[in-house]
Parts: sequence; C-alpha cells; structure tokens
Amino acid sequence: AFEVDLARSAMTLKVPAGKTILEVLRENGIDMPSSCEQGACGTCRCGVIEGAVKHQDVYLSDAEKAEGKSIMTCVSRAVSNRLILDI
Ligand code: FES
Repeated sequence: AFEVDLARSAMTLKVPAGKTILEVLRENGIDMPSSCEQGACGTCRCGVIEGAVKHQDVYLSDAEKAEGKSIMTCVSRAVSNRLILDI
C-alpha cells in the first residue's frame, strides 16, 4: 500500500494492494475521467508533483516515464510510500 496526497483537494488517501489509484479516487468522490482502464488511452492522466512512479501503462513515452511528471491512475502505482498528485 501507499498513500496519495491530493495537492489541490487537500486529501490524503491510502491505496491498498488490490486497488488502483483511480478506484480509490472515485471511492472518495474525486471525479477522474477514464476510458480503457488498461493504461493505453491516456484519459486518466494525472500530474505528479512529488514521489517516484511505478509506470505500468503503455501510453507515456519512455522519456515521459523517466521524467515522472505524469501518471496513468488506472494502472500505475508508487515506488515510494507517497505520491503527491496535482488534483
Ligand atoms: Fe486509459 Fe487510464 S483510462 S490509460
């Protein structure tokens, strides 16, 4: 599990092993758009302010993944204990 801090919503949410960031956001009333939910379309893209992302999508380029400024919330997770997201 890891935590996501939502910078603009002033919320901290726990993401357990069996759930995606997208699911946790929605359970907490955050209206995040999505489409494929398989890491392919880019609809659920979210800005990352701080923290290391474990990218599991096929949408971002290798350069974008290395830069670590975006995350696909439907599939990707955190390497660090906490991500600060621009939501
Ligand atoms: Fe398509 Fe997340 S919903 S990449």
